[in-house]
Amino acid sequence: PDFEGAELPLKGRHILITAGPTHEPIDPVRYIANRSSGKQGFAIAAAAARAGARVTLVAGPVHLPTPAGVDRIDVETARDMLAAVEGALPADAAIMVAAVADWRTADASGQKLKKDGSGKPAPLALVENPDILGTLGKHAQRPALLIGFAAETEKVAEHAQAKLARKGADWIIANDVSGDVMGGDSNSVHIVTADGIESWEQLPKDAVATRIMEKVAHALPPLPH
Ligand code: CTP
Ligand code: CA
Repeated sequence: PDFEGAELPLKGRHILITAGPTHEPIDPVRYIANRSSGKQGFAIAAAAARAGARVTLVAGPVHLPTPAGVDRIDVETARDMLAAVEGALPADAAIMVAAVADWRTADASGQKLKKDGSGKPAPLALVENPDILGTLGKHAQRPALLIGFAAETEKVAEHAQAKLARKGADWIIANDVSGDVMGGDSNSVHIVTADGIESWEQLPKDAVATRIMEKVAHALPPLPH
């Protein structure tokens, strides 16, 4: 077991975590989604709670139990996720693990879309969703430690460096998803910071979560007395 002993490393801290996919409605019965299982984000929330933090977990639609000691807020869309995240501030650290849908429909239909008999599907107009991590990066209540995740299939370090700068984050945890990671139980990650890259061996998602929380505890500024 991790984080045993008298002094829990995240006691007195508030850690804000997003996890899972978002669902963006097309009409009352259809939506845009992705294959995120939420497992890594939930494992991180569980590890933060074991380390003694107060934990707010903003979760997209997933089929996972709420980890012990975690306050969970369920949301569907990226816009709802952003509102829940801003509503949960201030936080000492924010770890944005969610696979937020990049686009939503320009206008979700109030009625189920029907085929019109022409054989031509109605066009689906998309607009970009708000960037939750990017919003926190320039927020008046920016957490002292702001961490993003990035699933990449190629040029993992290069893409993560670019995201670090673009989003104003302190770390990007780059996830190599070229193998069997989405929905799986282990993960191969690279921690990309302004100082360079730290690559971890492939580990179970729970072990990745514990290591991240140890690193977060070390990186946070000391608590005021
Ligand atoms: N993210 C977010 N809001 C979005 C999109 C992404 O908060 N609308 C966060 C994710 O939770 C993650 C990080 O940004 O922590 C990187 O997500 P990723 O999808 O890799 O970045 P994008 O900027 O969407 O770039 P890409 O075109 O590669 O998808
Ligand atoms: Ca994206």
